[in-house]
Amino acid sequence: MNVTLSTDSPVTLAVDMLAIGVRPKQLSRDPVLVKIDRALGGALQQAIKDEEFKAKAGQTLHVAGRGRLKAKRLLIVGLGDEPASQAFRVLAVKAARECEKRGSALALHASGADPVALSVLAEGIMTGAYRYTRYLTGDRKPKHTLKRALILLDGRADPAARAAVASGQKVAAAINLARDLVNCPPNDLSATVLANVAAEESKRAGIACKVYDKKAIDKLGMPLLMAVNRGSFEEPRFVHMTYTPKAKAVARVVFVGKGLVFDSGGLCLKPADGMLDMKMDMAGAATTIAIVLSAAALGLPVEVHGLLACTDNMSGGNAYRPGDVYASRDGKTVEIINTDAEGRLVLADALAFARDLKPDYIVDHATLTGACMVALGSYRAAFFCNDEGLRERYMAAAQATGEPYWHMPLDEDLRDQLKSSIADLKHTGSRYGGAITAALFLREFVGKIRWAHIDIAGPAYLSDVHGPYPKGGTGFGVLTAVELLQRLAS
Ligand code: BES
Ligand code: MN
Ligand code: ZN
Repeated sequence: MNVTLSTDSPVTLAVDMLAIGVRPKQLSRDPVLVKIDRALGGALQQAIKDEEFKAKAGQTLHVAGRGRLKAKRLLIVGLGDEPASQAFRVLAVKAARECEKRGSALALHASGADPVALSVLAEGIMTGAYRYTRYLTGDRKPKHTLKRALILLDGRADPAARAAVASGQKVAAAINLARDLVNCPPNDLSATVLANVAAEESKRAGIACKVYDKKAIDKLGMPLLMAVNRGSFEEPRFVHMTYTPKAKAVARVVFVGKGLVFDSGGLCLKPADGMLDMKMDMAGAATTIAIVLSAAALGLPVEVHGLLACTDNMSGGNAYRPGDVYASRDGKTVEIINTDAEGRLVLADALAFARDLKPDYIVDHATLTGACMVALGSYRAAFFCNDEGLRERYMAAAQATGEPYWHMPLDEDLRDQLKSSIADLKHTGSRYGGAITAALFLREFVGKIRWAHIDIAGPAYLSDVHGPYPKGGTGFGVLTAVELLQRLAS
């Protein structure tokens, strides 16, 4: 699908849907709406009255083109008083979703779209049109897909506007790739396949990518990743992607992703209900891939690494057990308490690898704990950080993208729960504060590097459409991480 800029008149455009975003105050004054209302002989203002349309954020109004507009249908989307970036994303996502129900060509207009807003619009159109259709056949295949999208400009399309649209599309493509990976059934996405996808996409983007197979992981020294993999028929993979900018890098940032392609819980088996969606337990790895690809596609002047710790967590005859003690890459020994707390183990070794790259920042994404969802619900990520400056920057980036995060404490009081009588560390604490003790465990492996841990157990995968996010894999976290990298660069 292609998003292009156009200066054509909205009245004469032959598209399946014309979508217009409007602020409450502009409802009777927006020049484009006035023009359209005139073409429709007053039917638009009539519909606004009849439907009590107030242009509240996310509110929509459908109006038929009646042959008086070249567009078949008109969709008015309320922008409320939300900040431009959020309001425009909702507009673009809704327009793309609605258009796909009926046709394949969309035109979209919002007054006052600056380059930042144009990038958001382009990205929203592409992520809004996302559907996971790989396994649909016959008449279950969608009848329409969005093929052409025009963003209508008030003035001329200058190079800055064109560049903004291009960058929005690049990030959207990466987000949609992350969603595809998360949605892929576990029988078709082993750790090996996930690593191969990372390698292929890296090659296409001109990024260096090294994949370690089981033997190489063992040689490299990742005993905890090896321990989690013991119960599986499938091999683990460790992936190291490196994007080196052409210009001098202003910073080095390492992203780390939990890549559990399926989490059965291992010997501490999950109940059936809790296991059903556990193909999504590699969302951290998918997000990490998308972040590195985006940084490369945008040519950001930051050295960005992506580390993926990939395996499944199964209960085969050789599976690791509660009570086992393993060394870690860092050297500290770990007593296994519950084999379902596998994520922090594979991350521990990956974080130790990240630390040795001596970066300015480490950021990990992981669907780490159910406790995080108990605390914050399904839509918000838990954000843990050992550095105030990084926290402020990250939270400001999140504010700008509109992705919901919440800053959580690394409570020293809970650290005692990780004391073991026979090893250096126990790997889980009590049920209470489970997201925090998981973060405290991870902290043991990052040394003195400035680090953020983002528990995306809730928002990485949704049981229903929510705001700009689709059902299933969401690609949560990519936008904010890319925003952070952009801010480091400016
Ligand atoms: N992958 C799960 C966490 C999870 C649960 C993510 C639900 C998304 C939705 C993780 O590996 C896990 O099983 N965590 C355990 C830890 C416990 C055994 C200390 C949990 O949260 O129950
Ligand atoms: Mn688990
Ligand atoms: Zn897990």
